[in-house]
Amino acid sequence: MSATSVEEVAPSRAAKSPWAVETHGLTKRFKDNVAVDGVELLVPRGCAFGYLGPNGAGKTTLIRVLLGLTHADAGTMSLLGYPVPRHRDLALARTGAIVDEARFHGHLTGRQNLQILAAAREPAARTRIGASLERVGIAHRADDKVSKYSMGMRQRLGVAACLLGDPQLLILDEPMNGLDPAGMLEIREMIQSLVAEGRTVVLSSHLLDEVERTCDAVAIVDRGKVIRQGPIADLLSGSAFELQIDCATPERAGALLAGTQWGANVQVGPDGLRVDLAAGTDREVAAEVNRLLVEGGVSVYRLQEVHASLESWFLEVTTRLGASQ
Ligand SMILES: Nc1ncnc2c1ncn2[C@@H]1O[C@H](COP(=O)(O)OP(=O)(O)OP(=O)(O)O)[C@@H](O)[C@H]1O
Ligand SMILES: [Mg+2]
Repeated sequence: MSATSVEEVAPSRAAKSPWAVETHGLTKRFKDNVAVDGVELLVPRGCAFGYLGPNGAGKTTLIRVLLGLTHADAGTMSLLGYPVPRHRDLALARTGAIVDEARFHGHLTGRQNLQILAAAREPAARTRIGASLERVGIAHRADDKVSKYSMGMRQRLGVAACLLGDPQLLILDEPMNGLDPAGMLEIREMIQSLVAEGRTVVLSSHLLDEVERTCDAVAIVDRGKVIRQGPIADLLSGSAFELQIDCATPERAGALLAGTQWGANVQVGPDGLRVDLAAGTDREVAAEVNRLLVEGGVSVYRLQEVHASLESWFLEVTTRLGASQ
């Protein structure tokens, strides 16, 4: 098969892959330090995916390996179905990335910075400058110097620079870093709108709460290893939860439940009860508790299942791992 036909065949093969990012056994060492340790990562296309871990967990290193900025010591990987490094050019032509902080010329305007970047790309990139600035919501400041931009605006200009290539996949290293809550909200909404257009956004973060709010799926990484991954909803459903019950007579409700199998897990507060339930508890328990209270003469105003946030679940896992090593 000639080189030309490989280039022709690769895109149709790649399009069949359901994964925007796929890695198997991916490993990167710095001497004795295994920064990326046998990572098996499957990022579905068309979602916002969080690569979540504490400082030093190996997030930036994984991204640098994916982009070919540093070589892997072991394992295989593909981006948008293109095996890399074999088809890196094809993969990167469809991928936009910001690693570490996006850097721009402060004495030039946002638009001028994009013009410089577009000049180094395919001709179509020039035609996308205006739309990219609009897309990230900074068109009204496009002719101001970048030195006058806030951190959030620089991050958004970074994403606009990625959009010059009309990427199917965006990889953003800590896009929320250094932003205030309003800036985080803007970035979150922008990421979600990029996903709504059918793009895949992979972001790394140590801000667990932000990942939970922004992403559809997550991989949790600790000391180079992926501990858990999957849709956030699935990860939560496997976790312990509590029933929160607002009722008229909490003391009486507590007494009614005290004699049941859940008695030890009931806490009575001024407005109601909390019943802690173990992972895997059947949801029928909620209906049963409600029945017991109502038949016992307690008026129940509200009964709600509250799952642990991903944040508390994540901290629990890393603490347990830390303790066992
Ligand atoms: N160029 C390098 N040379 C040697 N060690 C490195 C290098 N880059 C990273 N490391 C080490 O690899 C490990 C992972 O670092 P990495 O920067 O990937 O973590 P991170 O998850 O991105 O952390 P942070 O949240 O602080 O950005 C750390 O122990 C770090 O010291
Ligand atoms: Mg990092």
